[in-house]
Amino acid sequence: MDKRQTVVSTANQQQTLTTSQGMPVDGNQHSLTAGPRGPILLSDIHFIDKMAKFDRERIPERVVHAVGAGGFGHFELTHDVSKYTKAKFLNGVGKQTPICVRFSTTLGERGFSDLDRDPRGFAIKMYTEEGNVDFVCNNTPFFFIRDPLKFPDVIHSRRRNPQTNIRDPNMAWDFISLNPESIQNIMFLFSERGISDGYRHMDGFSAHAYKWVNAKGDSFLVKYHIKTDAGVKSIAPEDSVKIEQRTKDYSAEDLWNHLGSGKAASWTFFIQAIPEAEAATYRYDVTDITKIWPHGDYPLIPVGKFVLTRNPSNNFAEMEQVAFSPGNICPGIELSNDRILQARVFSYPDTQRHRLGANFEQIPVNCPMYGKIHNYQRDGPMRVDGNQGGGVNYEPNSLGGPVEDPSTAAKPVAVSGHAMRNLYANTGDIDMEQPRAFWERVLKEESKKYLVNAMTKSMRTCRPDIKQRMVTLCTNVHPEFGTRLKTALENVDAPKL
Ligand code: HEM
Repeated sequence: MDKRQTVVSTANQQQTLTTSQGMPVDGNQHSLTAGPRGPILLSDIHFIDKMAKFDRERIPERVVHAVGAGGFGHFELTHDVSKYTKAKFLNGVGKQTPICVRFSTTLGERGFSDLDRDPRGFAIKMYTEEGNVDFVCNNTPFFFIRDPLKFPDVIHSRRRNPQTNIRDPNMAWDFISLNPESIQNIMFLFSERGISDGYRHMDGFSAHAYKWVNAKGDSFLVKYHIKTDAGVKSIAPEDSVKIEQRTKDYSAEDLWNHLGSGKAASWTFFIQAIPEAEAATYRYDVTDITKIWPHGDYPLIPVGKFVLTRNPSNNFAEMEQVAFSPGNICPGIELSNDRILQARVFSYPDTQRHRLGANFEQIPVNCPMYGKIHNYQRDGPMRVDGNQGGGVNYEPNSLGGPVEDPSTAAKPVAVSGHAMRNLYANTGDIDMEQPRAFWERVLKEESKKYLVNAMTKSMRTCRPDIKQRMVTLCTNVHPEFGTRLKTALENVDAPKL
C-alpha cells in the first residue's frame, strides 16, 4: 500500500465534530438555507468558520526551496571534537540531540517535480541545550556566487521569463556566461550527480566556512560535510522523465515510505578545520564559497551521525512551518566573514517573518526544546506562548529580570580597510583551478561526455552570443572542455524557439 496516501484517524474513539471555537456542529453536509430552495444564511456560523479557514489555508511558499520533505530523529556525537569547539552538544561523546530535517529542491514552485536537475537543500535543526542550532546545507560543496548582492539575480535568471512565465534557458546561461565563478557549481549540476536518486542518497555540505571556538578560545574555520550512509546515487535523465509520468513527488515518496516502514536513514558528519591564523595565508580565500578546500590540504575529521527515524505527524505543521536559519548558532559556533553567510543570517528570519509571521519562533517545530525563552520582547501577532506573563519587560530593571552572560560573547573579529564596494581580491585564473582539476583528474571519459551532453541539451535553444561566451568560459576551464562543448553545440539539433 502507498503509505503516503494513508490518512489516519488521530482519535482512539470517535469525537464530536466542532467549530474552531469548540462548539458542537449539528450538520456538515448541508448548509443553513432559508427554505429548501432559498439562499444560505449568514447565521450559518459553522459554514462561515469552515469556509473562512479554507480561504486562508495557503501561506506564502518559500521564495526558494518550496518543494521539500523531511523527518525527525537525532544527532549523536561519536568523536571528541572539544579541541575545535566548546558547543555543548558537540562535547561529550555519545550525547544525543533531537533533530528536524527538511530536504528540498531549489527553484521549483510548490507542486513542481522533485526530480529536477537542481541543487538539493539539506537543512537540519538541532534542539540543543543552548538553543536551536541549524545547519542549512546544499548537496553541493560550493555555490554559484560569492557576493549576496547577486542572489536575487542568479535565482531570477534560472526561473520563469517575466513576460512568458516559461523557463527560459537564455536567462540562466546568459547569467552564468557573465559570472565565471559559477562554473564549478554548474559542472557539478550538469554532471551525473545533478539529479539525486531521492533525498536519502545525497550528501550535504555547509559550503561556507563557519568559525568554531574551543574552551581555550582557539578558533578554526570549519566546513561541514554530511555524507549519506546509504551511498550517493543519482538518476539518469531519461529515467527521471519516466518516473515523472507516474509522480512528481518521487524523492518525498521514497523518504516517506522508507521512514514509514520503520527503517532509519543516516548520514555521517565530518568537518574540515583550518586554524584561523593559518586561514589568512591559505591559497584559497576561506570566505569564498565558490571554492572547496582540497581534502589533501585539510582532511575530513569525523564528528557524529545524523539519524532520521520518523515521518512528520503533519506536513503543514512541521515541514511547511519549519524555519531554518544559518544564523541559528550557539556559543562555540560563530559566523565567518563569508559575505554569503553574513547575508543569509539576515535573509532567512526576514523571509520567515513575512512567510510565517512575526512570532514564527513560537510555532512548536521552531521552539527551542530546552528551557524557556527569557528576554524583553513582547506582543505581536499570534503571540501564543503566554507573552512571558507578568515578567518585567524592560532593562535595566531592579526586578530580577533575565541578565546577559558575557562569557558567551563571540570572539572579537579584527577588521581593517575601507568601507566601499570591495571586490574579492583573489579572482581570475584561480577561479578556474578547481573546475580544471575536476575536468582533468576527476571526470572519466563517460562523465565528460555526460557533462557536455547535458549542458548542450540545456543550452541548445540559446542565442549564439550566449553559447559563444559559454564556450569561452569552458575553454578557460580547459581547452578540451571548450572544444567539446563548441562541437556539440554546432552539431546539436536545435529546435526553433
Ligand atoms: C545569498 C545567498 C542566499 C540567500 C539570500 C538565501 C536565501 C534563502 C531564503 C530566503 C530561503 C527561504 C527560507 C524560508 O522561507 O524559510 C532559503 C532556503 C534555503 N536555502 Fe538559501 N539562500 C542563500 C544561499 C544558500 C546556500 C549557500 C545554501 C546552502 C549551502 C542554501 C540552502 C538553503 C536551504 C537548504 C533552504 C531550504 C530550507 C528549508 O528547508 O526550509 N541557501 N534560502
